Formats: sequence, structure tokens, C-alpha cells
Amino acid sequence: MTVRHFLTLLDLSKAELLALLKRAGELKHMQYSGIPHEYLKNKTLAMVFEKASTRTRVSFETAMTQLGGASIFLSPTDTQLGRGEPIEDTARVLSRMVDAIMVRTYGHEKIKTFAGYSRVPVINALTDDHHPCQLLADLQTYVEHRGDISGKTVCWVGDGNNMCNSFIHAAHLLDFELVVACPTGYEPQADLLTTFANNVRIERNPQLAVRGAALVATDVWASMGQEAEQQKRTAAFAAYQVDSELMALAASSAIFLHCLPAHRGEEVSAGVIDAPDSLVWEEAENRLHAQKALLEFLLCHQH
Ligand code: CP
Ligand code: NVA
Repeated sequence: MTVRHFLTLLDLSKAELLALLKRAGELKHMQYSGIPHEYLKNKTLAMVFEKASTRTRVSFETAMTQLGGASIFLSPTDTQLGRGEPIEDTARVLSRMVDAIMVRTYGHEKIKTFAGYSRVPVINALTDDHHPCQLLADLQTYVEHRGDISGKTVCWVGDGNNMCNSFIHAAHLLDFELVVACPTGYEPQADLLTTFANNVRIERNPQLAVRGAALVATDVWASMGQEAEQQKRTAAFAAYQVDSELMALAASSAIFLHCLPAHRGEEVSAGVIDAPDSLVWEEAENRLHAQKALLEFLLCHQH
């Protein structure tokens, strides 16, 4: 049996991703109906957080509780990781005790190293380069409310960051077109633009970029670790706010998504995020359901 990690969305095949999204919907229904689903009884998830989190921590902890298992929150301030114990040693030790390990960290190389030394599945809960767990929830939200995303146009407005990189992977796997509206110097990873050129293109003008989009998504202009660049970025992204005028140029049935936390008045106007039909709260909730399906997939299936 091989250990399956989830470091990027590409660790899943298209069929596996579609099955996982379907399963997320089933698990959501089971929870709403009070149907027990303790498929991870006696299993433990270690959660290593080197950056802050609200949604990721609470959704993973709650997921493990509802699946009948347990979770352990670990931060560098109170583990030996923060005192310089190597990642390799931490991975080897933790993976002899727990059944899966979730990691939120800075450099993507760190999580790759972690996975290389782990006997159990490692889940990327955000690195500087990718945020695949968020994409599971975003795709689940789109599918729930609008159906199949294949062949649609999705517009990413703002920073070509970790979320945007993961959106490119999603565009490739589910075959939709991703139009990225970003200022010069803030593009997603160059190798992704080349490798997945069939599914992604840059359009500098946000008004042109959102045309015909079935989904418009954005994220903060300065991600965790980029706080010192906030002022410079605020100036660079000034023309890239998603407001009602911009949403009006997208398809009439377009939905807006934001992984949160959001900065109203910066990347998104209050009018868009707080609209009565805003799906961002549903999107946040779906982190729980999608990650339950992911944990079940990684821990219960023979690979
Ligand atoms: N969207 C997301 O990952 O949120 P947190 O940083 O609160 O976990
Ligand atoms: N791009 C953001 C996402 C937060 C969930 C960051 O990395 O801080």
C-alpha cells in the first residue's frame, strides 16, 4: 500500500477529484440529517500550524470529531519544531504516532520534505505556493449551486498567489478556462502558466477579464508573510477591487467566492461580499465537508 499525500490538487486524478466532491456533498447531507459517519474512529490527525488560521484549524478539528477521531493542534511556539528540531525528524516521529498530518507552512519545499519523511498522509493546509484544501471547498460550492464547472470561464482577480496557483490546477483537472486579472509583477507561477496554457491566460484589464465569467474569485492583496509589502501592494492592486460594477460585467448568474479572511474596501467591496446571496459563508462551511471527504479518501481507501 502506498501512502497518498495531498500537497497540491494534482495529487488527485480528475476522477478522484470528482468522486471526492460528490462524497463531500453526501457527508454534508449526512451531517444535516444527523446520520452518524464515524469512519475515522480511533484515528488521529496532527495539525502543524506555522501560520495563523481560523477556518482551517476549526474545520479540520471539527471534521475529525464528527468522523469519530481526534486531532492535535501543534504550533512552533510550543513544539520542538520551533526550537530547531529538523522537519525530517519531526515528520518521522509524528508519523509513527498519528494517522495523518496536516501542515500549514511557508515554503512549499518544506511540506514536500515533510511528506518525504512521513509514513502517513500529509495534507497541505496552505503553503506560500498552494492552498488545495480551499479549492476543494470552492469547487464543491460552485457545483452545489451551479452544477458542472467544465467548459465554464472562471476569473481570478488580484494577486497571482497560492490560491490562484491552485485555481490553475483546478482549471486543468476539471477543464475550465481561468482568466487571471493581475497587475504586472503579481502573476501566478510562470511554470504553471506554461504547463497549463490551454486552461489559463492573463488579461490585465479586470473589466475585460470578467466578461462571461461564471465564477469570480479574489483574495487578499498581501498574503501571510507579505505584511511588510502591504502599502506597495495596496497601490499596485488599486484597480483590481471586485465591486458590484465589476460583478455586473460577469455572466448574469456569476457567483463570487473568497477564501477569507477578507479585507472589505480592498480586494472586495462590502456590497459584493455582504450581498444577501453571497456564497462565501457556504464556501467557508464547505471546508468542513470537503475535508471530511479528503480525510476519508486518504485514510480509508486502499491506494
Ligand atoms: N481560508 C482559510 O484558509 O482560512 P484560515 O486562514 O482562517 O484557515
Ligand atoms: N493567500 C492567503 C490565503 C489565506 C487563507 C494567504 O496565504 O495568506
